[in-house]
Amino acid sequence: MDIFILILYISHLTFSAAATSNNIALPGCSSKCGNLTVAFPFGIVSDSRSCSLNPYFDITCNTSFNPPKAFLRSNLFSTSGIGKFNPLEVVSISDEHVRIKNIVASKCYNQTGGLIQDHKSGLVVAESYFMLSQLNNLITVGCDEFTLMSEVSSSKKTQGQVEDTSRSDSRRIERNNEFNPHAHYNTITQGIGCCKMNLPTNLRTYLASVNTLNNHRDVWAFDKCGYTFVGEQSAFLFQGASDLKDPNFVSRTVETVPVVLDWVIGSRSCNDYKSSSDYHCHENSVCVDIKNGNGGYRCSCKKGYEGNPYVSPGCHDIDECSDPKTNPCDGACTNLPGSYKCSCPRGYKQDRRNTSIYYCQKNSVCLDLGGENGGLRCSCKNGYEGNPYLSPGCHGSVCRGSVTCSGERDSFRESGDRGSGGLMSKV
Ligand SMILES: *[C@@H]1O[C@H](CO)[C@@H](O)[C@H](O)[C@H]1NC(C)=O
Ligand SMILES: *[C@@H]1O[C@H](CO)[C@@H](O)[C@H](O)[C@H]1NC(C)=O
Ligand SMILES: *[C@@H]1O[C@H](CO)[C@@H](O)[C@H](O)[C@H]1NC(C)=O
Ligand SMILES: *[C@@H]1O[C@H](CO)[C@@H](O)[C@H](O)[C@H]1NC(C)=O
Repeated sequence: MDIFILILYISHLTFSAAATSNNIALPGCSSKCGNLTVAFPFGIVSDSRSCSLNPYFDITCNTSFNPPKAFLRSNLFSTSGIGKFNPLEVVSISDEHVRIKNIVASKCYNQTGGLIQDHKSGLVVAESYFMLSQLNNLITVGCDEFTLMSEVSSSKKTQGQVEDTSRSDSRRIERNNEFNPHAHYNTITQGIGCCKMNLPTNLRTYLASVNTLNNHRDVWAFDKCGYTFVGEQSAFLFQGASDLKDPNFVSRTVETVPVVLDWVIGSRSCNDYKSSSDYHCHENSVCVDIKNGNGGYRCSCKKGYEGNPYVSPGCHDIDECSDPKTNPCDGACTNLPGSYKCSCPRGYKQDRRNTSIYYCQKNSVCLDLGGENGGLRCSCKNGYEGNPYLSPGCHGSVCRGSVTCSGERDSFRESGDRGSGGLMSKV
């Protein structure tokens, strides 16, 4: 016999936008560079047609790498030192963010304090629709460090002209930890040996270098290098001494801790664009003003819709009922534009009370009577007794009135009889 509880199955309604949408990229454009999905307004540069909204959203897919690598356009770049420019390699693109490979600044010393390696780190995304996200932190690792970070001055944003402006307008933003030369390095933990701090808002360029207080002379035995980088805060967990000793710290960090960029369209508000040809939110989507930085907007599918709002004809309805396992109804599910409707099986009506208590109470089972009119009956589970229709339900008979049953409590499990779906009662 079917147990009614089965149709109370509730699951989180998660819908992958990519799952059913077929308008990720413009017609005739590829949406894949290796594993990377490139959704319009981004577009993979192709000889035959323009695939992005504008050149800032161009993605170059270099297939001479295996797997292929994707890069942002060439006037957005990182630098590992004055005059050394690298294209930004894209790790992922989402509705709000572009994640790119990291650039780690490092300095390493020999036993007597001589500098034997020096890399700076910097990023220039000015004059574009990108900005360093607040999901990033400035992170410094090492036992003898402080970091200098500066914005690249606005007159020198173009490639080939980046200069370190730290002389005049840099802020010395972090001095690392209290160094104790006598501390055993096993005790180095987060906060000692590593520090993270929030970035200033609206940052589009930076140049960072890691500097030393005492050339690592006192810590050289366990810490030969200092590192600093901007990266996604949640992707980096300092592992203490093992990070300080890891010769692959830089390459590991480059691979695992991306830099997050926010992207927007334009620099004005939705209202400014709405009646112009620069408005790109299609059917069933809403325009969202971006308040920080230079402003601008993004498009977002309306509730109940999915797809790519930037590609005509826009977002399409989600069929909430399509999968019987995840559909949100206890009874019959009817899909509607942007929503859905639940209706009760024959013999039941919608319960007006806003209650999540199911008809059959705790420790009882629901028996489906079947037949012409349906109907149900509740019955205490084996080994339980009481009134299955009244809260708190059935109780374990062996335990009633006894003080020797402390171990029994655990068997009083919730039996799946609560859930937001249980809003039915017998007619
Ligand atoms: C691409 O995706 C597949 C499947 O998720 C994964 O096994 C593979 O490692 C990925 N390749 C790269 C380069 O990320
Ligand atoms: C792809 O990468 C290779 C190796 O770095 C480089 O020589 C080549 O110019 C790149 N091709 C394009 C189209 O950028
Ligand atoms: C450390 O580096 C400095 C500067 O490069 C050099 O003069 C010195 O000889 C080096 N010391 C050792 C022990 O290698
Ligand atoms: C119904 O109950 C839910 C969960 O307890 C609550 O969040 C919601 O506000 C309630 N709605 C009404 C109309 O009382």
